[in-house]
Amino acid sequence: LRYAPLSDDKILQQGLDTLPSVIVTLNSTKTSPVYTAGKELQAGILGVIGESLNITHQTEPAAQSSSILVGTAAAYNAGYGTVDISKFAPDGFWLSIQKGSVKIVGQNERGALYGAFEYLSRISRGNFSDVDLISNPDAPIRWVNQWDNLDGSIERGYAGRSIFFWNGTVVQDLTRVAQYARLLASIRINAIVPNNVNANANSLNNENIEGLGRIADVLRPYGIQVGLSLNFASPQLLGGLSTFDPLEPSVVSWWTEKTALLYKRIPDLAGYLVKANSEGQPGPLTYNRTLADGANLFAKAVKPYGGVVLFRAFVYDHHADWNVWTNDRANAAVQFFKHLDGEFLDNIVVQIKYGAIDFQIREPANPLFANIPKTNKAIELQITQEYLGQQSHFVYIPPLWKEILDFDMRADSKPSLVRDIVAGRRYNNTLGGYAGVVNVGTNTSWLGHHLAMSNLYAYGLLAWDPTLSSEDLLHDWTRLTFGPDPVVLKTVSDISLATLPTYENYSGNLGIQTLTDILYTHFGPNPASQDNNGWGQWTRATATHIGMDRTVKNGTGNAGQYPPEVAAIFENIETTPDDLLLWFHHVPYTHRLKSGKTVIQHFYDAHYEGAKTAQTFPRQWEALRNKVDVERFTEVLFRLTYQAGHSIVWRDSINNFYHNLSRIDDEHGRVGNH
Ligand code: GCU
Repeated sequence: LRYAPLSDDKILQQGLDTLPSVIVTLNSTKTSPVYTAGKELQAGILGVIGESLNITHQTEPAAQSSSILVGTAAAYNAGYGTVDISKFAPDGFWLSIQKGSVKIVGQNERGALYGAFEYLSRISRGNFSDVDLISNPDAPIRWVNQWDNLDGSIERGYAGRSIFFWNGTVVQDLTRVAQYARLLASIRINAIVPNNVNANANSLNNENIEGLGRIADVLRPYGIQVGLSLNFASPQLLGGLSTFDPLEPSVVSWWTEKTALLYKRIPDLAGYLVKANSEGQPGPLTYNRTLADGANLFAKAVKPYGGVVLFRAFVYDHHADWNVWTNDRANAAVQFFKHLDGEFLDNIVVQIKYGAIDFQIREPANPLFANIPKTNKAIELQITQEYLGQQSHFVYIPPLWKEILDFDMRADSKPSLVRDIVAGRRYNNTLGGYAGVVNVGTNTSWLGHHLAMSNLYAYGLLAWDPTLSSEDLLHDWTRLTFGPDPVVLKTVSDISLATLPTYENYSGNLGIQTLTDILYTHFGPNPASQDNNGWGQWTRATATHIGMDRTVKNGTGNAGQYPPEVAAIFENIETTPDDLLLWFHHVPYTHRLKSGKTVIQHFYDAHYEGAKTAQTFPRQWEALRNKVDVERFTEVLFRLTYQAGHSIVWRDSINNFYHNLSRIDDEHGRVGNH
């Protein structure tokens, strides 16, 4: 989006040779994404190629051969040509570049803007080849969630204060929100929920409805809709009713009226996001109503306006009794939702975190994906690095997401990839997709770490096409962000691709979870914080054993929540992959892995290896001095240096903790009494 000039003269000449002479946008309304597309094309071509093109809003068919034409399929078919509309999914686009004539035709306005960004991405990377492609999204829901509070703080945000809220209300100056919208449109995101899932009922007061309306006005030219997180008890907290029972007529009319008010101000409101009966949040269970009763209340309210409800599956008891061997937070989602399958209205999408616990460095895919076939489903991913070092560490996360998305649940012994389930394909659901918790803030780098933006870039494009490769996405992002220098490309790629295995090595191994402190900061190592409390992120580490027994035969039964073929793999210690061993099995520290090492020796070795690799990150980055601008060079170096140092803190804390517990020395004499 910087539209940096092409530095290679030969490539620039190619660009000049094939450049059309005018931009034609088939919609002149200033709030339309097609209009935005015209402006972006103009700015992008000026920046990248150095030519200033005029924008017009119509053209003679004959003049098309030297134009960049951008519009919707309907506008295009009304006089400029014929495109087969049946080939488009909502938000899809056709991009044709033939010898300098460029056609960008969207299924809708938003699709046209996506096509324009695709064209700009190509020329920014020096690619002027002819192309003729139709690109359609894999899924209709491609949302981001911000966990911003009305006071301007951000829950699990590591890049400054909120760009949306301040002092109980929406900020006056929404310039930065418009920039965020531009950024998100370029990666094909179509809705933002700006307020925290732990929602404040005041989000729905009149001042904030107006504020949300202003946010929506700023997002609209980018084809992005706004949604809203709700506090389930709002009728009581804000409306002054004595109840928030979802079946109580006064509660129903309260929500109906609020929803009408919202849609009056924001006719294209995307819908609601609801966290209910989770971590102290109110919900329908308070009144012995089901979660489906709760979700359907909102679904009915938004239905007349075409809205949807993202209802979170992150429901569990955070006062679980640690002393009960068979208790398991990982079982909660299936326990709460499975029996309700078929009861959710068709404009509800159940939003499911990728794993059954909580954004850990390694979790198996959440079994709920394969347990509610009749219900629309979305996967929730986390771009903000809550458990992955809070952006003080850099972790390039897409390989983790891809592993989950590519996981085959083998439901009914048929191919059942998570990505096909959330796209709605596997079970013929009408809706589905992706929700990413992003939490950008006022920090000029957006996420607090320049390199972390590759995660956001990849998130958007994977939500569009989950078959894209993590490596290609990273390569394109780096090329667009730092330019074509092969040394820069290689260094960023080498560091980024090493981060996920490295972080796993120096944090929690073998599926034991991240081992981040969960009681105070969610930062840094604290393996002791996992056990002996109600939060349920248990490791059951003792002097002799470690791991959760999630088998059916002797444990919590969680393995049995997967379809039979997968359940059989996880139930059996022999077939459980080593990297999920301690997720599913409680074993002695001396248990031998498939690699031949014992569990405890693997811990020691992995931590030494992880911390060793992390030491190379700042050294590798040093090679980019004078190849990356001073500001970004210095800031990234600072953080990578911090990460290298902190990885040693991780290494020694974890290794010493388990050595103290187990009293088993390291074979290589690094940990223990040698
Ligand atoms: C985690 C996180 C909370 C968040 C919750 C959720 O527990 O630490 O801050 O509110 O997830 O996703 O609802």
